[in-house]
Order: sequence, then C-alpha cells, then structure tokens
Amino acid sequence: MSFLVFIGSVALCLVVSSALLQRFEEAAKADGSLSFLVIGDWGRKGAYNQSEVAFQMGVVGEQLKIDFVISTGDNFFDSGLRGIDDPAFDESFTKIYTSSSLQKQWYSVLGNHDYRGDVEAQLSPVLTNHHKRWLCLRSFIVNAEVAELFFVDTTPFVDKYFTEPGDHVYDWRGIGPRKTYISNLLKEVDLALQESNAKWKIVVGHHTIRSAGLHGDTDELVKQLLPILQANNIDLFINGHDHCL
Ligand SMILES: *[C@@H]1O[C@H](CO)[C@@H](O)[C@H](O)[C@H]1NC(C)=O
Repeated sequence: MSFLVFIGSVALCLVVSSALLQRFEEAAKADGSLSFLVIGDWGRKGAYNQSEVAFQMGVVGEQLKIDFVISTGDNFFDSGLRGIDDPAFDESFTKIYTSSSLQKQWYSVLGNHDYRGDVEAQLSPVLTNHHKRWLCLRSFIVNAEVAELFFVDTTPFVDKYFTEPGDHVYDWRGIGPRKTYISNLLKEVDLALQESNAKWKIVVGHHTIRSAGLHGDTDELVKQLLPILQANNIDLFINGHDHCL
C-alpha cells in the first residue's frame, strides 16, 4: 500500500514539474527600471562586422548600464557547436564580447543553425559552469520584476527543417515526438503568460512571426504561437533569424 502511494506521489511530482518552465530571477534597478541589449545571429568568429557591433554594444551597454543581454539564437555559425570544447565558443563569444558592460548574464535561445550542431553542448551546464555569463536553454522564463520574459524554442515548429533538410543534419535529440513537444510547449507558455502579473510581458524566440525581411513570416508561428501571444496581450515579441542591423 505505501509502495503504491509512493509511486503515485513520484509520478505526480514529475507531471507537475514537467509542466513548469524553468524560472530565473533578475532584480530590476533601484528605480524599478530595467535595461538590456538584444542580439541574434552573431557567432562569426569576429567576421561580418561581429567585432565592430560587439564594440558598440560595449559602449551602449555602459551608457545604459544594462542588466543583461538577450541572444535570440543562431549563436554559432554555420552549424552550432561541435561539442563543449569547440574553440568556436571562445572565438565567437568569449574573445568577442570583451567589454566590461557585457560581462553580464546572457540569456540565449537556440536558432536553426544551432540545431545543426551538438545542441546538448550549447545547453550544457558544463559550459555555463566554465563561462558564468552563458546560459542557453530551449524554453524558460526570466522574471525581472517590471518585465517578465518568456523564451520560446521556435526551431522545432518549422516544418521545412523536417521535410526538406537538404544537406543539413539537425540534432533533434530531446525533442521526442515533435507534436507532443510543440503542444506541451504551447500549453506551458500559455499557462505561464496567463499567470504573469508583470507590467511588461515580453516573448523571445529565434524565428520571425511577421517579418518584411528576407525570410518573411513563419507560418507555423503565425498559426500556433501568435494566437496565444495575442490572447495574453503580450507587449513585445523579439526575434532574430532575419539579419537586419
Ligand atoms: C561591414 O561594415 C561595413 C561598413 O558598414 C560594410 O561596408 C561592410 O559591407 C560590412 N561587411 C560585412 C561582411 O558585412
């Protein structure tokens, strides 16, 4: 009898915790305000003006006294990281974002290019342990008092990476049955948004929802994610994918 009760409560705990996105707390400034920089599609080992942009981010970051940095994914071109020891991590991140104002927490999601490498490496706690400011997760929440930020893993939504991968090999480990992954994620984001009391609700993902840029709209997100964001009256959606400066 007690064995059964034990199993029952363990199962309940697993169900409850899997329904919650991991949360992180960021204190706002003394006056209640918050400032942060957002960058996406950046890991080029300094090329494509990455170093120049990094330098200016340092200057602006100092002026704004930023609290943290958001990365909207495509963190390492062309195919993510090869492993936790991939020198691309230092060549594209550590040795590029050297300004003192950028030595803050970075909150990152994955982009489609990251999914072409070793996804588990970018998400690895080992990497975060070695580089304290690095944190990349699939989907999570940052509660920053005046604002709550909801990070959403958008790559698994996009059909063409599954149906027409071309020469690319995507690392779908951890996605499991894709439909279940997406429906659970949408439910969790919806629930978290409903429960949020933050003045500003901000959603962050890699792919565009609506865009006049090169990639244009992401139809899967227009159909599946946008209605949830609208129903919950979010204030802002921040994405990368389209390269605009
Ligand atoms: C770097 O920036 C300069 C100045 O804006 C521009 O002319 C050049 O095309 C950029 N290089 C690349 C590779 O984007």
